[in-house]
Amino acid sequence: MAQTSTLRQLGFSARLGVTLIVVTLLGGLTVSGVYMAVHHDNRDEQPGLTMTDIQGHYAGVNVPSPLLGAIERGHPEKQTDEARKVLSDWLKGDRISEDYDSLDLGDLAPAEILASDCLSCHSRQSTGEDAYPELALDYFDDVRAVAFSRDIRPVGVEVLAASTHTHAISLAVLALVAGGLLLLTGWPRGLTNLLVLLMGVGLALDLSGWWVARLSGAVVPLIVIGGFVFAASVGVSLLLVIADLWRRGKCGAAG
Ligand code: HEC
Repeated sequence: MAQTSTLRQLGFSARLGVTLIVVTLLGGLTVSGVYMAVHHDNRDEQPGLTMTDIQGHYAGVNVPSPLLGAIERGHPEKQTDEARKVLSDWLKGDRISEDYDSLDLGDLAPAEILASDCLSCHSRQSTGEDAYPELALDYFDDVRAVAFSRDIRPVGVEVLAASTHTHAISLAVLALVAGGLLLLTGWPRGLTNLLVLLMGVGLALDLSGWWVARLSGAVVPLIVIGGFVFAASVGVSLLLVIADLWRRGKCGAAG
């Protein structure tokens, strides 16, 4: 049985009004999507909105320094285990500046190890096939730039609470409006009901995820998936509402 569209039975001025409101809403949603990308952008100092940015915001994350990352993946291949361990302990500790060329450590001072194990390739003067002078490690200033791991702290509980309070209410109302309008359209019930379900599930996953992420960073992907499902189903629903308002068909009353 074809679904009757309540929306299409509205008079011209009401349909025009609803259309303009929905278009404005879609504009607002687009802007908030862009805002989010910019706002979360630079937590991990990688360009663009990365998963690490989002992980950092909700759960906190440790981004190993480039030096530590290289050492942990076994770079360079030719290095004694002892030297590797000294560098790794040094980079994981909190005395990076103090111990860099500590006299007490003698030949095992990080500066000495870097000089003997790395500078053949990582000096400004390095040449040759394997050389990588782009990442120079000649001076402490060079080393310091790539030595510090960063602990990204999650957003504070108070900020999260304030954000939850505004978002839970405004997004739920948005979903009710989009879902309510959609249910007044003439689109098949199978489609409209599915979209309303997706809005509900997406929103609940997203917002509850903000809090559960503080206990376990593993849920952060669910925040992203939930947010995406929510935004997509709201967006599609609003477009379907506009399409329904102006669709020609047998259900339309006044033209
Ligand atoms: C035989 C030459 C060679 C030696 C020795 C060497 N490197 Fe490298 N290194 C490279 C090359 C080539 C690259 C770029 C390609 C790559 O990432 O593997 C690189 C890349 C890196 C990077 C960037 C990796 C990334 O993930 O972006 C770091 C950090 C680094 N090296 C640190 C070190 C340190 C510390 C040492 C000494 C303990 C060292 N390297 C010794 C050749 C070398």
